[in-house]
Amino acid sequence: MREKLRNILDESKKQLEKASSLQEAEDIRIKVLGKKGSLTEILRSMGSLTPDERKELGQAANKVRADIEKLLAQTVSSLKEKAKEAKFMAETIDVTEPGKKHVLGTKHPITITIEEISKVFKSMGFSLTEGPEVETVFNNFDALNAGPYHPARDWTDTFYINDQVLLRTQTSPVQVRTLMSQKPPIRVFAPGRCFRCDTPDATHSPMFHQVEGLVVDEGITMADLKGVLDSFAKQMFGPETRTKFRPHHFPFTEPSAEMDVSCFKCGGKGCRVCKGSGWIEILGCGMVHPNVLKVGGVDTEKYTGFAFGMGVERIAMLKYGIDDIRLLYENDMRFIEQFK
Ligand code: DAH
Repeated sequence: MREKLRNILDESKKQLEKASSLQEAEDIRIKVLGKKGSLTEILRSMGSLTPDERKELGQAANKVRADIEKLLAQTVSSLKEKAKEAKFMAETIDVTEPGKKHVLGTKHPITITIEEISKVFKSMGFSLTEGPEVETVFNNFDALNAGPYHPARDWTDTFYINDQVLLRTQTSPVQVRTLMSQKPPIRVFAPGRCFRCDTPDATHSPMFHQVEGLVVDEGITMADLKGVLDSFAKQMFGPETRTKFRPHHFPFTEPSAEMDVSCFKCGGKGCRVCKGSGWIEILGCGMVHPNVLKVGGVDTEKYTGFAFGMGVERIAMLKYGIDDIRLLYENDMRFIEQFK
């Protein structure tokens, strides 16, 4: 039996030295000291010994048990220490490693263009205003003096929500809202989204942007219109830019005109951008029609005004040399990132 006890101690020692996890140490404990463990079995079998033998062997067995328990405790604590160390190592941060780069977003060319236009009009004392994209037929057409059979009203050109509500086809209804809510003197500009039933191609998009302008005060004349818009063109396209006003027709202005700017690419000599003419059409404008002023309750004997509207996509495309409007809405990062 003594032999057996020594074997158990030696064997336990050997195994505990090899144990590489807490689970293994626990398995060894069960195998030796557990209910059916090798040492427990020996202790149990001592009933058949003489009292003297029992005393002697009992002491020896208890010593072996104490030794094994001590060894177990040492093994467990060193394994725990090792596990802690491994955890620390895994959590170590290499402070010399370079940081991760945050990719900064860029402004969309349409946003950049609206901001540029806004800056110019703000510098001339205009305040920014806005109107809803879902408009009434009244504000978008009737109040703007468009006759009942005006072609733009056709359902093949305009997105109707019902017979009184539509997606605005222009920012001009903001003029109506402004006239109904403000008293002259009025000096506002209104950027925003517009919608028309156009099939997308290189120059058409069913959704696009305009910037509207409206000035109403005593004694406003066509000279004010020309002065403000000429100054806008020079600030937007460069100080050497010249402007030219061609008669045109809009229901809400009388007289009406379109403004051309001398080509900022070739300076007026004629090139691909201006299609050889030296001029580029940039906006529509005119003196506000008395019928429109009257909708807002403006005294047309006392006040006059001018208005203008421009397409943002067209200006952005001309300025940045973009030859297809669809590029603006495809969100191809390779395109968008060029406008940093
Ligand atoms: N609303 C016109 C359009 O979409 C543009 C326009 C022309 C606006 C003349 C105006 C203006 O305010 O006076 O074609």
